[in-house]
Amino acid sequence: MEKQPVVWFNNEIVPWENANVHLLSHGMSRGSGIFEVFGTHKNGDHTYAFRMDKHLERLENTLRLLSMELKYSMDEIKAAVAQITRENNAGRGMVKIMAFWGEQAIVNLVLDSKLDVAIFPIPVDVYRPKGHGGPITACFSKWRKLHPETVPVQAKACANYLNGYLIRKDAVARGFDLGLNVGTDGFVAEGSVESVFIVKDGVIKTPPLGRILASVTRDSILRVVEKEGLPVMETHLEKEDIYTADEMFTCHTGNKVEPIRKFEDRELPAPGPVTEKIKTWMDNVIGFKDDRYSDWFQKLF
Ligand SMILES: Cc1ncc(COP(=O)(O)O)c(C=O)c1O
Repeated sequence: MEKQPVVWFNNEIVPWENANVHLLSHGMSRGSGIFEVFGTHKNGDHTYAFRMDKHLERLENTLRLLSMELKYSMDEIKAAVAQITRENNAGRGMVKIMAFWGEQAIVNLVLDSKLDVAIFPIPVDVYRPKGHGGPITACFSKWRKLHPETVPVQAKACANYLNGYLIRKDAVARGFDLGLNVGTDGFVAEGSVESVFIVKDGVIKTPPLGRILASVTRDSILRVVEKEGLPVMETHLEKEDIYTADEMFTCHTGNKVEPIRKFEDRELPAPGPVTEKIKTWMDNVIGFKDDRYSDWFQKLF
């Protein structure tokens, strides 16, 4: 990063390098950190958040699932996002909200205090370096998706990403860009930090909610595709569905549609014809070229 953004940290603006916690904080030593990430986009002179309400709804869900509370209300968080993006003159990029117990927890596992909050604006070239976003390769990971009765997988909890780390590490070690995981129920779940879609005989399919993170990009794609009238299904996918897909793509906040050009040893068109349409529609949405979705943007400054 050329110039490091300043950070909103517990209602103060601090330099990036001062946004720290103690090694024995509960967040660090017990893994209680949670987070949320959403995109920011520039239109004319103004910067907008993409579906911030939906992301903050997911943050509230994470808090409920983990019996945690923030030190700040959601209205205060929204105001803080506007303040810190304005302070950094942020354009296209992401906002990452981190919440955690900064309190030290040498013996205590359960704390009754409220979570500290830090908000980081991250410019686009940091999370999406040049060359990123093109067709990718993927494989199945040897690691299963966390079982939802061990930790809630709908919670965007830092600790859940040890599973994501292993899945990515395994895929990269085998020469692929990313790995998809299968749940303990035997159905395909998602990637380390991405949802997955396939196209088979003209029908777009993605695994249902329940054992995956409720991706806001996945939801946006489902809505856009339905509005355009293409057949789409949220349905359990077997490994065989992946092996026989006509097209495949992944998605997350940073990359709305990322075509898969090779899965295991099988080449796929990337983007295939349906994926290309979806990619164009999503580019139009986030490029402010489709007025039907203007309420998906919240003006920050
Ligand atoms: C496990 C997992 N699945 C899916 C996604 C995509 O979610 P979103 O579209 O909200 O970025 C993410 C994003 O970080 C993720 O971590």
